[in-house]
Amino acid sequence: MSDPRNEQSKAGALEASAFFGRRKGKQLRSHQSELMEQMLPQVAISLETASVDPIKLFEPVVQEVQIEIGFGGAEHLIAKAEAFPDIGFIGCEAFINGIAKALAQVEERNIRNIRLHPADALELLRALPPNSVSKLFLLYPDPWPKPRQRKRRIVSENFLDLVGKVLKPGAEFRFATDIDDYAAWTLSRVLRHRDFTWTPGSSADWTSPWQGWFSTRYESKARREGRSSAYLTFLRRQD
Ligand SMILES: C[S@@+](CC[C@H](N)C(=O)[O-])C[C@H]1O[C@@H](n2cnc3c(N)ncnc32)[C@H](O)[C@@H]1O
Repeated sequence: MSDPRNEQSKAGALEASAFFGRRKGKQLRSHQSELMEQMLPQVAISLETASVDPIKLFEPVVQEVQIEIGFGGAEHLIAKAEAFPDIGFIGCEAFINGIAKALAQVEERNIRNIRLHPADALELLRALPPNSVSKLFLLYPDPWPKPRQRKRRIVSENFLDLVGKVLKPGAEFRFATDIDDYAAWTLSRVLRHRDFTWTPGSSADWTSPWQGWFSTRYESKARREGRSSAYLTFLRRQD
């Protein structure tokens, strides 16, 4: 029989972390390993500074801060940062190969307005002060499709509480998925959450990508496999 104290601490860990994926994939190439050792400490944020005011994490000065959770290969994060040099982007990713890819692009393109949280996004959301973020992207989160895996999905009431806390009034929470069931899962949770509104004008609002959209690796995979996407834009309530 298993020790009930272990079960209790497993349940605690489940609640505390939203990351259930792989931390490591292919072995890093030697330059990627160098970047992880030398560049990551400079680009990684301090949760202490973030908890006071995330805008202070950026030098040169930026006008606002946006967050991308689970940036994967960093296609969207890098493209956004290049297109909007006055915005500071915090990318969260716990998969080491994804972090190394982002660092390589930051170096190659000499990007100054990206900082990384190379770990569970919930830690960052918990640390950030209220009303400090102007937009939050959750693009193609891990689907965890099997019924017994669904409790691992990052979208939960607790997650929405944290997103509602950090977003400024009127700010957008953008969510994309190619899994119908995940779109419905998220919609049902957001619609009953006090902090958000969803008021699409027509079906194009959720079947077409956002203006100026930069596609991601998972989106390309979905298209190759014949799946379309839902693009949901939720607004942080003003009150
Ligand atoms: C299905 S992939 C999508 C990647 C990318 N957004 C794209 O569209 O190509 C989901 C990513 O989220 C990351 N992830 C999952 N849970 C996370 C968490 N709690 N904190 C940070 N990253 C997380 C995974 O490591 C994975 O790279």
